[in-house]
Amino acid sequence: MGNIKLKAATIKDKPLLVHMDYSLNKIEHIALKREEKITKSILNNECFIILSDTSKVGFILFDYRFFDNGWIELIIIDEKHQGHGIGSAAIKMIGRLCKTTKIFTSTNQSNEIMQKALNKAGFTFAGKIHGLDEGDPELFYFKNLSEQNPS
Ligand SMILES: CC(C)(COP(=O)(O)OP(=O)(O)OC[C@H]1O[C@@H](n2cnc3c(N)ncnc32)[C@H](O)[C@@H]1OP(=O)(O)O)[C@@H](O)C(=O)NCCC(=O)NCCS
Repeated sequence: MGNIKLKAATIKDKPLLVHMDYSLNKIEHIALKREEKITKSILNNECFIILSDTSKVGFILFDYRFFDNGWIELIIIDEKHQGHGIGSAAIKMIGRLCKTTKIFTSTNQSNEIMQKALNKAGFTFAGKIHGLDEGDPELFYFKNLSEQNPS
């Protein structure tokens, strides 16, 4: 793993980010209107590119729409860069940019790698919601940032 940094995405990054997401899961990309989501997020300054040294290896959509707390809407690591500690490092880093004392996110119960990455980044399980994806409940996670980001 190189030196991991986050950088605000610009509209010039859109084709790359759309391509990363599309290549990982074409069906979800289309069904969940991810191109539109990524575009809106870039325009609202809520999209961060993950750099490993100078290479763009993934992105995070981050906002404050979860009861006014920091919220990781989506994190994508390009397939060839997965499993090298980049996701958990980037999740930890977005916590440093977060302006609220708590940060939340969620993932499907079936996504064990995301759950491990969240645990590694210091998040703890906050609860389970049924009914979003049939047969695959949504697991919520949070991290208290008051020690990491003292005011
Ligand atoms: C989920 C995701 C963001 C995690 O990022 P990552 O860089 O691949 O994960 P990390 O390398 O930081 O791994 C974190 C932990 O997960 C586990 N892990 C990672 N890859 C694994 C694999 N292929 N098999 C089993 N466990 C794995 C390890 O326990 C690892 O901890 P370790 O480094 O101490 O061994 C990334 O894999 C991804 O983009 N996946 C597809 C999109 C997605 O699911 N996004 C989340 C939507 S909610």
